[in-house]
Amino acid sequence: MSALRLFHASDIHFGGENQAAVAGAAQWMADHPVDLAILSGDLTREGQRTEFEAARAWIDALPVRAVVTAGNHDVPYFNIPYRALMPWKRFDRWMGDLKAPPPLAGLAYAGINTARGVQPRANWSKGQISMAQVRKAIGRIRTGAPGALKLITCHHPLVEVVGGPMTGNVWGGPTAAEAFTAAGADLVLTGHIHTPFVHAYPFGDQRTYAVGAGTLSIRERGVAPSFNCLEIAAECITVTAMAWQGTRYEPYRTWRVDRRLETAVDTSARPEEGQDPPAAQSVAV
Ligand SMILES: [Fe+2]
Ligand SMILES: [Fe+2]
Repeated sequence: MSALRLFHASDIHFGGENQAAVAGAAQWMADHPVDLAILSGDLTREGQRTEFEAARAWIDALPVRAVVTAGNHDVPYFNIPYRALMPWKRFDRWMGDLKAPPPLAGLAYAGINTARGVQPRANWSKGQISMAQVRKAIGRIRTGAPGALKLITCHHPLVEVVGGPMTGNVWGGPTAAEAFTAAGADLVLTGHIHTPFVHAYPFGDQRTYAVGAGTLSIRERGVAPSFNCLEIAAECITVTAMAWQGTRYEPYRTWRVDRRLETAVDTSARPEEGQDPPAAQSVAV
């Protein structure tokens, strides 16, 4: 029996959403109750007012509360001065009250914004995470009761996904992932690459898992529109990517991973030379 059941979607890109898949995801939540809907950025396509309005209307009609982090598309995409000076004005207007989740027993949550309106590199859509953000997130997840799920959400994968269709190229990402592992985070939920995945960070006890949700937009990257359903039990976490089949959602892939036992945390532990790290157990269904 699972103690917590979470819906995780990303990259809906209202303005370019797959309308049937988005409506189907809301219906799926009505048919399969979850404790919280987590949306890890790129809610809009170009950060337009009408796109934020559509996103908020969809969120408000959900049968469950949502918590939202920003993505690189949630800035005024083509208005460079506005994007440079006030990148999050619209996001905060429509989503500001959804940046923190409602109190939920068994959950210690931290949301981080890894997107930036401008950056000193050509591709400003890639991610950044500062040590101040890392410290703040660690402080938040440490407030959880013993056994609580320590969950961090941001938009860009902090460590590159092997075989992924694109990169997050997050400045500070691997350092942050190592710090989150040392701090005992259970999950880091992200989006951006429009493809679902689960893998353990290659640090410490390797019991901190990166979980990516696909997209619910028409901008597919090799996988049908999808979201993740996470079932959190005391000793393991099951992540099922649910893919849109035109008229309904079907399981696309399932991962089952062991949770860290709180009494057995040894963040300095590394695998013996020649020993494979514990891999996420992938269950094809
Ligand atoms: Fe996206
Ligand atoms: Fe993105």
